[in-house]
Amino acid sequence: MILTAAIILFSFLEIVNSQALWYQPEQVHLSFGDNVSEVVVTWSTINDTKESIVEYGIGGMILRAKGTSTLFVDGGPNQHSQYIHRVTLPNLTPFSRYVYHCGSNFGWSPEFWFRSLSSDEDWSPQLAIYGDMGNENAQSLARLQEETQRGLYDAILHVGDFAYDMDTDNGAVGDAFMRQIESIASYVPYMTCPGNHEERYNFSNYRERFSMPGGSESIMYSFDIGPLHIISISTEVYYFMYYGIKSLVFQYEWLEEDLIKANLPENREKRPWIVVIGHRPMYCSTTDRDDCTHYETITRVGIPFLHVFGLEKLLYDYGVDVEIWAHEHAYERLWPIYDYQVYNGSYEEPYTNPGAPVHFTTGSAGCKEGRDDFNITRPPWSAYQSRDYGYTRLKAYNKTHLYFEQISDDKQGAVIDSFWIIKDSHGPYKYSEINWGKMDGLRLKSFV
Ligand SMILES: *[C@@H]1O[C@H](CO)[C@@H](O)[C@H](O)[C@H]1NC(C)=O
Ligand SMILES: *[C@@H]1O[C@H](CO)[C@@H](O)[C@H](O)[C@H]1NC(C)=O
Ligand SMILES: *[C@@H]1O[C@H](CO)[C@@H](O)[C@H](O)[C@H]1NC(C)=O
Ligand SMILES: *[C@@H]1O[C@H](CO)[C@@H](O)[C@H](O)[C@H]1NC(C)=O
Ligand SMILES: *[C@@H]1O[C@H](CO)[C@@H](O)[C@H](O)[C@H]1NC(C)=O
Ligand SMILES: *[C@@H]1O[C@H](CO)[C@@H](O)[C@H](O)[C@H]1NC(C)=O
Ligand SMILES: [Fe+2]
Repeated sequence: MILTAAIILFSFLEIVNSQALWYQPEQVHLSFGDNVSEVVVTWSTINDTKESIVEYGIGGMILRAKGTSTLFVDGGPNQHSQYIHRVTLPNLTPFSRYVYHCGSNFGWSPEFWFRSLSSDEDWSPQLAIYGDMGNENAQSLARLQEETQRGLYDAILHVGDFAYDMDTDNGAVGDAFMRQIESIASYVPYMTCPGNHEERYNFSNYRERFSMPGGSESIMYSFDIGPLHIISISTEVYYFMYYGIKSLVFQYEWLEEDLIKANLPENREKRPWIVVIGHRPMYCSTTDRDDCTHYETITRVGIPFLHVFGLEKLLYDYGVDVEIWAHEHAYERLWPIYDYQVYNGSYEEPYTNPGAPVHFTTGSAGCKEGRDDFNITRPPWSAYQSRDYGYTRLKAYNKTHLYFEQISDDKQGAVIDSFWIIKDSHGPYKYSEINWGKMDGLRLKSFV
């Protein structure tokens, strides 16, 4: 009798116990909402907690925000499932330290904190930027964690290729990776774009796990931070065409609209720096035979033979200032370039009033595929090359000055490269061919 009761009690406790474990929030990460004064908290639980709540505090006041969850089923044979919760924290008081935890009455995450930002343009954001960081050999992660928690960054840009790969082992590698980056992504917004390693099951691990603004399931979006207008795109729509070219065309049109809006005088005046991030570069001098080693990179000139939807001309025409890529497991900075021509501002100061966008590739955060090699002959457009594991820092001082530096993790955090981009004015380049009629149309619309 007593034994039976004990067994029943024991099994009951075991159920309660195991369920409590499955309601526990994990993989907590942040992103920006509709503007940088809003933060979205995203996390996972194995079982349905019915509620998705963030409790967050500032100066003794405790606020509560509620959101929703969606069931995400990985495409692998095990159909591994989890609930992904999203809660938006609106109207944050700028430049304040918020403490928060997330979860539900079934269980809460540990406490984390973040510093809220201002959606005004007159401050100087500092970002960490890198691509190609894996679950194994994420060499830069410890340093990034230390610097993030010291308050060095206002946001992080991860320029594609996560985990290697998030879908591996029925999504277990994705779960492990999201737990690993929690040590940075739960403290600062972790902004992303998709890479080739996200391709499995129609990019679903990427689309479901991240919560970028803009309603495109994190595939393409833009946001303003300080004097920067940052546009994140998918270069993968140029390489995985098994669903046709619809998504490529859709993105190209979205991108042009976004560039038109960013160039309206009242917008470009406030956020003069237009920065584009995307995974695969147009140019590279590595030896891995990736598309960027070819003369006619598809993202650069458009789809083969027809040469339509090429990005290089579009971004040049609308006066994009900086183009940041990854995919090559190395760091490579270019002189200002358009169609293989270098357009230095001057020989002495190539990046002061450059005559074309400045590209660089920063895909060396660390992953199990190791590093890429450079061709022994360096092309004339390649300004600096490094195979060190590491990442890039950007400080956007103001409307005229941007500062970049490359950190080597192999060299204990040493700055191995740095450069300023200085512009007295922003806008189309000398040979830009902009459809001003279209711009006027949009300006009219936005004034109605
Ligand atoms: C930020 O976006 C939210 C939601 O669209 C809006 O309510 C709010 O006014 C915006 N804040 C600023 C400062 O633009
Ligand atoms: C909790 O999740 C597991 C794994 O997906 C599932 O097998 C189980 O049925 C769920 N339990 C409840 C109560 O929903
Ligand atoms: C793939 O995902 C996109 C969303 O990014 C969706 O529009 C499309 O219908 C999906 N395609 C298939 C075949 O599931
Ligand atoms: C190195 O670059 C030269 C052109 O400068 C090219 O002909 C050669 O194929 C490249 N080598 C490799 C291994 O990519
Ligand atoms: C651009 O400037 C750099 C640095 O001064 C120089 O090495 C390079 O030759 C210049 N390129 C051209 C085409 O002027
Ligand atoms: C912009 O920042 C740079 C670097 O700190 C500084 O030299 C320059 O004076 C600043 N310009 C303005 C207008 O504040
Ligand atoms: Fe890649």
